[in-house]
Amino acid sequence: MNQLIYDFLRVTESAAIASLPWVGSGNKVEADRAATNSMRAMLSQVEMDGIVVIGEGEIDEAPMLYIGEKVGTGTGKQIDIAVDPIDGTTSTSKGQNDAIAVIAAAPKGTLLHAPDMYMEKIATGPKAAGKIDITASLEENLYAVANATGKDIHELTVLIQDRERHQHWIDTVRELGAKTYLFEDGDVIPAISTCIESIQADLFIGIGGAPEGVLAAVGIKSLGGDMQARLLPRTEEEFERCRSMGIQDVNKPLSHDNLVATNDCAFIATGITSNMLLNGIKREQNKITTHSIMINGNDKNLRCTETVHLINEEEYKKMRVLITNS
Ligand code: FBP
Repeated sequence: MNQLIYDFLRVTESAAIASLPWVGSGNKVEADRAATNSMRAMLSQVEMDGIVVIGEGEIDEAPMLYIGEKVGTGTGKQIDIAVDPIDGTTSTSKGQNDAIAVIAAAPKGTLLHAPDMYMEKIATGPKAAGKIDITASLEENLYAVANATGKDIHELTVLIQDRERHQHWIDTVRELGAKTYLFEDGDVIPAISTCIESIQADLFIGIGGAPEGVLAAVGIKSLGGDMQARLLPRTEEEFERCRSMGIQDVNKPLSHDNLVATNDCAFIATGITSNMLLNGIKREQNKITTHSIMINGNDKNLRCTETVHLINEEEYKKMRVLITNS
């Protein structure tokens, strides 16, 4: 992964740049299409024999970067890829915070291969690693995290996506006197931020996309935190999709190792709009500046990088026109 991580950086940067003309456009479909096209084109240049094991959907519903799609040059190491060209398509189209282009990679057979469906997730940072349990109540998990971190329950902050389906968790946290940090869209960065001491977020809980779950699991593993999950198929068709991908016990709680079974993994994200870890893209005349994070499971480092991309006005205008006409 050490060698590939900079190739993946170019992949997420290019996806983020491609989405820029669509930030605030109200058109999340075109934003996603632009990011996906660009990500796929860049991935095709990476020297690896890659396969998308979890991502935007299956071949019938996602024309590109579908689950099972081969990516890379087809030579070199065999790599599992988890991908979301835009986590936060709605934020992108509304010009709001919290949209990223994101990818995670690990050797073949080590990332969860699952359909694009809802997943229940719980995550915490290194201090409480080994203490959370997705089968226990949120109250029990909060006390476990408080014990492990040496904090009073009132000092804990829980990150939760602001959704009706999470209201019972929001109520529990507040009734116990702990704090909620509610966010609108994009749950990958909030889950990972439990591992960043300065953010002071103790626990993440929520039901969101399974691809976002695996992406976050790679970042969290690489930073020494802990995550557990459970797939939540809602229809017989979704159950069947799970079985066809080799998941027999569909409701089984998934350990961190079930989500990502190696430390030899990498997580790379580029900000489209700003979030708690990353600045969004800035454009000034012929310069586009991107901010990214690269987390490497081997050396357990989080690197932040700023890249200046030189473009000319005509090229930039063409980015949107080309995509509109395509
Ligand atoms: P997309 O931008 O890829 O659609 O995902 C945004 C997101 O907020 C995810 O981060 C989260 O896992 C999921 O949607 C939650 O789903 P929903 O918006 O249906 O509540």
